[in-house]
Amino acid sequence: MKEQLEALKLEALKELESVNDSKTLNDFRVKYLGKKGPLTEILRGMGKLSNEERPVIGQVANEVRSAIGNAIQSKQDEISRKELENRLKEETIDITLPGRKPTQGAIHPLNKVIQDIEDIFVGMGYTVEEGPEVEKDYYNFEALNLPKDHPARDMQDTFYITEEFLMRTHTSPVQIRTMEAKKGEVPIKIICPGRVYRRDDDDATHSHAFTQIEGLVIDKNVRMSDLKGTLLQFVQEMYGKDTQIRLRPSFFPFTEPSAEVDITCANCKGDGCRICKQTGWIEILGSGMVHPRVLEMAGYDPNEYSGFAFGMGVERIAMLKYGIDDIRHFFTNDLRFLNQFVRI
Ligand code: DAH
Repeated sequence: MKEQLEALKLEALKELESVNDSKTLNDFRVKYLGKKGPLTEILRGMGKLSNEERPVIGQVANEVRSAIGNAIQSKQDEISRKELENRLKEETIDITLPGRKPTQGAIHPLNKVIQDIEDIFVGMGYTVEEGPEVEKDYYNFEALNLPKDHPARDMQDTFYITEEFLMRTHTSPVQIRTMEAKKGEVPIKIICPGRVYRRDDDDATHSHAFTQIEGLVIDKNVRMSDLKGTLLQFVQEMYGKDTQIRLRPSFFPFTEPSAEVDITCANCKGDGCRICKQTGWIEILGSGMVHPRVLEMAGYDPNEYSGFAFGMGVERIAMLKYGIDDIRHFFTNDLRFLNQFVRI
């Protein structure tokens, strides 16, 4: 029996040499040390032994069991170490590989220009207001002194939704909404940025949807010279200290008198070039003194209060500032265009 045990030990240790993974090792353990294994079998036969033999064989059997047990344990350690090494090898990160550069987003140039304009006017004490893009005919036209069938409505070809509702053609309705909300209080000093819509055919200088910024100041004794000074301050902050303005008489139903405002051409500094059509001047906005009827309809007594207003196209302001030659660039989202504004 002793020889049997020794042979078993040798056989087991030999077999163990070729075991290389946890699963086979577990099968091995069951095979040799399990209840149905040969060791248990041999030990079961111990009852037949004499009293002298039993302790001797018992000791040998225990030695064989612990020899196999120890060998299994050290094999287990070896396998675990190998498995860990393999995992580390598989999961290593090659820090010498060149990195992938994330593309950097940026504020859209139009929004940037809106922010710049807002900053300039906020610096002069204005607040920023907004109004709806789907607007009532009343606010877009009637309350701005453009009654139904008034020929000046033709100046702005309109997307009507119903008889009463339309896509606003300008940001001027926010003037009326603000005056109504203020209920006769002064001062009002606001600018209103927003999207506007017109039935225009899109080309390099026209878009059916574009952006405006409206301005409105209402108080006692507001004069045309205030308008002029404000706009001069604005254009000099926007285009540089050497920029000059001139006011040309014009017509808008909601202002009287009305003026279109030109700035000296930033490209040729007034000498005349292709951009300013050889005039040295470039038109940038419409403006005027708020018409008494507009004040009256919005609840302000024109004998007591006066005001000025102006409205400008943001795309146009941006095109002049950055030398952009086609308004459609703002809306087509071509990254070759947009990437040029990452760091402005
Ligand atoms: N709403 C005018 C337009 O879209 C621009 C404008 C002109 C606004 C004169 C004004 C203004 O507030 O006083 O063409």
